[in-house]
Amino acid sequence: MALDFLGSLERTHLCGDLRAANAGQQVVIMGWVNRRRDHGNLIFLDVRDRSGIAQVVLDKEMTPDGHAKGEQVRPEYVVAAVGKVRLRSADAINPKMPTGEIEIETTQLLVLNDTRLAPFSPSDEAIQNEEIRLKYRYVDLRRPEMQRNFRLRHDITLAIRESLSQQGFLEIETPILTKSTPEGARDFLVPSRVHPGEFYALPQSPQIFKQILMISGFDRYFQIARCFRDEDLRADRQLEFTQVDLEMSFPRQEMVFGVVEQFLSAGFAAAGVTLPVPFPRITYDESMMRFGSDKPDMRLPGLTDVRSAFTDDQLATLQIDPALPVVALRIPNVGELSRKEREDNHPLFDQKKGAKFIDDFKRLAKGFPEAAVRVRELTGAAEADFVIIVAGDPTHHIKASDTKFPGRLSEREINVYSAAGNFRTELAKKYAERHGAFGTTDAAVKEAAAPAPRGGDKLPVSAVGAFQPIWITDFPMFEFDAGLGKWMPAHHPFTSPHEADMANLLSDPASVRANCYDLAMNGLELGSGSIRIHRKDVQQQIFQSLGISDEEARARFGFFLDALEYGTPPHGGIALGLDRIVMLLAGAPSLREVIAFPKTAKAIDLMVDAPTTVSDQQLKELHIRVALKS
Ligand code: AMO
Repeated sequence: MALDFLGSLERTHLCGDLRAANAGQQVVIMGWVNRRRDHGNLIFLDVRDRSGIAQVVLDKEMTPDGHAKGEQVRPEYVVAAVGKVRLRSADAINPKMPTGEIEIETTQLLVLNDTRLAPFSPSDEAIQNEEIRLKYRYVDLRRPEMQRNFRLRHDITLAIRESLSQQGFLEIETPILTKSTPEGARDFLVPSRVHPGEFYALPQSPQIFKQILMISGFDRYFQIARCFRDEDLRADRQLEFTQVDLEMSFPRQEMVFGVVEQFLSAGFAAAGVTLPVPFPRITYDESMMRFGSDKPDMRLPGLTDVRSAFTDDQLATLQIDPALPVVALRIPNVGELSRKEREDNHPLFDQKKGAKFIDDFKRLAKGFPEAAVRVRELTGAAEADFVIIVAGDPTHHIKASDTKFPGRLSEREINVYSAAGNFRTELAKKYAERHGAFGTTDAAVKEAAAPAPRGGDKLPVSAVGAFQPIWITDFPMFEFDAGLGKWMPAHHPFTSPHEADMANLLSDPASVRANCYDLAMNGLELGSGSIRIHRKDVQQQIFQSLGISDEEARARFGFFLDALEYGTPPHGGIALGLDRIVMLLAGAPSLREVIAFPKTAKAIDLMVDAPTTVSDQQLKELHIRVALKS
C-alpha cells in the first residue's frame, strides 16, 4: 500500500498515557499496530508504543480515507492517528487495560511504514524458540515484557548511580583496550596493527585500574563497567557483562558493606522492593555447613547435622563414612513421593563428590525406626516435607589434599556439604512451582517486580522475603588445585590475607583466611570483593606462596608492582553483577532477558551474526595468519 509521509505532524501523547481525564482532547499518537479488528463500518486498531496500548477507532463515515487504510494495515505496521479522545461506552470498557476507559475517535490515519511478516509477533504471549527471538531481536525487544525489563534496568542503574554519587563516589572510566587482568578467566585479545604480533586484552574487570585510582588519590571510585571474559556461558553468565564496580581508600570491611547495602537498597527500591538492612552475614565455613554452598539460597530451610541420630554400627550398616558429616536436607511441602518419582530425582545428585544419599525414609524407618524419627525431629520436618540424608561414601578415594587442616573444613567435608547443598537447590527448583518450596513462587517475584514504578507501589505480601541477601566472609585465601598440584588464589592475587593469619602464609597456606567477601542472593553470587594488599612486601609474599616467580609477576603486573611503591593507601572494594541484579528483579530465567543484545550459549550473536571471518586484507594489516579450523 502507499505509505504516508509524516509532514509536519507531531506526536502529542504516548499511547499508554491516555486516560479518562484526556476525554475531549485532540491528540496525535504514533506507534505499531498491535492488533486489528474489522467490524465492517468500524475498524479498531490497538496501537502500541513503549508506554502501552491505545484503541484507535476508524469509522467509515467519519474518516472514509482512514477506514480504507485501516482495511489494509496489518500488525506491526507503523501508524499515526489524529483524533479526539472519547470515553468508551460502559459495556466497552476494558478494566485490564490502563487505557481501557477511552478510545480515539480518529479523523486521520497515516501509514508511516509497513512490515515484512516476522516469524513471531510482539503481541504473542510466549515465544518458545529463543534462537528466533535473538535473530529478530528488534521485534523481540518490542514485546511489553522486554520493554518492561529494560525500563527496570534503567531505573535500577540510575538509582544505583545516584546513591553512589551521593555517597561520595566519582564515576571514572577505565580502558577497554588494555592488558590482561587477574580474574582468572580467559582473555579476549585484540591484535595491534601498529605493533605486529602484539595484543591488547579486553578487561575481565577494571580491577587494576581501580586500585591505581586509589593510589592516585581519588578516594572513592565507581563505574558501571563493561567486563569481558572468554568463559563457558550459562543462564547467569555472559561473555560481556556489566559490573557495578567500586573501590575506596582507608576502608574497613564494614564500610564496604555499608556502601553496598545503601546503593543496592536504592536499586531495589527503584523496582518497588524493600531490602532489609543490614544484610545478614555468615562465614564461608558456616555457609558450607548450614547450606552446602558459598552462595546460599536463604529462602529454603538449611541443612541439619543428623550424625547424632545414628550409632556407629548403624552408620557402618548403612555404609556411611563416620568421619564425615551426616547431613539432612528438607524440601517443604513435597508430599509423599513414589519410588519412580524419587528415582527421577537421582540425576540431580552430583555423584562425583564422594557423597551418597538416602531418600527412602520408609525403608530407613523399617530398618532403623528410632533413627528415622530422630532425623525428622532434628530437621523439624512436617509430614509433607521431603527429607534426604547426604553423607560420605567410605569407598571414595582419598586424595593428598584431603588432609584436615586445624580449624578449617577439609575438602572431603566440603564435598559432602556441597553435594547436599546442590541437591537441595536442584530439588527445590524442581518442586518450587508445585509446592512453593521457596516460600514464594517465581510468579510472585515477577508480580512483585512488575510495575517497577519509581515512586514504588506497595509490594504484594506474597513477595515479602522474596529477595534474601547475605554476606559471606572469611573465605580461604588459597585453594589447592589437585590437577596442578599447587595452591591457587581463591579470589585474585591482590586480595589481602587476614593480618592475624599472615605468619602462616608459607608454613600453612590452608589456614590463611582472606580479607574478602561475597554477596549472595537467592542462590546467586551477586558480588565479590576484598580489602587489597597495599604493601609491596606482602604482595611479594603472596606471589611467593602462589609459586609465581618474580619474573612472571613482573611480566604480568610489573607496572602495578611499581605503582604500589609510590605511596599506596590501604584500599578495598567490590563489584556486583548488574545484569544479575536486574535478572532477579525482573523474575527472569536468564541474563539474556535483561541484556539487549546477548550471546547465545554457543557464544554467538545471532542478530549481527558474530563472530565471523574477516577479509584477507584485514588479516594482513593485523599481521595475522589463520591456521585453518581442524
Ligand atoms: P568477580 O570476578 O567475582 O570479581 O565478579 C564480580 C561479579 O560480577 C558478576 N559476574 C558475571 N556476570 C555475568 N556474566 C559473567 N560472566 C560474570 N562474571 C562475573 C557476578 C560476580 O559476583 N574485580 C573483582 C571484584 C573486586 O574484587 O572488587 C571481580 O571482578 O555477579
